Amino acid sequence: MPLTIKPILPGFGAEVSGADLTKPLSEALRHEILDVQHEWGVTVWRNTGLDDESHIAFSRMFGHLELAPRPRPSRHRHREIFDASNLDAEGAIIDTEATRLIKKGDRIWHTDSSYMEKRSAYSLLLAHEVPPDGGQTWFADTRTAYEDLPQSMKDRLEGLVGENSYWWSRKQAGFAITEEEIDARPSARHPLVHVHQGSRRKALYIAAHTRDIVGMPREEGRKLLAELTAHATQPKYVFAVTWGVGDLTIWDNLCTMHRGGDFDVARDRRDMRRTTVREGAPPSEPDDPFADLYAAGAAPLSQPAPARPS
Ligand code: OGA
Ligand code: MN
Repeated sequence: MPLTIKPILPGFGAEVSGADLTKPLSEALRHEILDVQHEWGVTVWRNTGLDDESHIAFSRMFGHLELAPRPRPSRHRHREIFDASNLDAEGAIIDTEATRLIKKGDRIWHTDSSYMEKRSAYSLLLAHEVPPDGGQTWFADTRTAYEDLPQSMKDRLEGLVGENSYWWSRKQAGFAITEEEIDARPSARHPLVHVHQGSRRKALYIAAHTRDIVGMPREEGRKLLAELTAHATQPKYVFAVTWGVGDLTIWDNLCTMHRGGDFDVARDRRDMRRTTVREGAPPSEPDDPFADLYAAGAAPLSQPAPARPS
């Protein structure tokens, strides 16, 4: 049992040490890491020494890595690296309205890519450069939050399905898009409650991308979604990771929500890079319409709605 586990909340989030993630891992250690991840939902690994190549190589132990879209010139050679920085292709701070809004969107509680039909399981975010105070990312425990709901609410949620849209979360961040324009763009349906396979515990699967509840009047659905998000993000279910260079945080999107913390986007350089693991997909699976969907998402709203990815 080489790993050392330091819980952050009593049942959620742990700082883990005792493994060199830059080196190939034994089968036993991989199992141990997966078990720890399933139990704690979020794991924080300090000062890993990972670079892009070893970040990608380590991430593959969790499954198929999604490929990042490339709507703009990128600093990154590897398609597996999602650029979560505020830097342009030359490494200078991007200070545009669109970036400001995207960062604002990141600060709303969300689960990565819930607007895709194939969900993302793990996100592995590595800090390359951080603001002077480190900057923070917040996490919420959607398993304990579900378990603590009154039975009447659990009964009400039984069988309900959420409609998830990338553009809905952008609208909340301030993008000028109408409900009709969102209607014309792709969305994905997922149950509001599901069994988290790694722990066999039930979890809420909601947040910023969840626009409506299928079959429920819009106002009623949105009220219920807001109520669930407020419940699951109470202080007792959340904590923040304060970053240092080289730190890696792994979260399981299927039992957590997360959001970016405040920092001065226009002044402080912040270079964060993410790999993202598809739920239940074999490592050999070809990539899906992710890139197309993202590219369509980045297209000006005056353009016709993109075709639904197949
Ligand atoms: C992400 C994300 C928040 C942050 O990479 O998916 O939401 O703090 N990041 O960078
Ligand atoms: Mn995110």
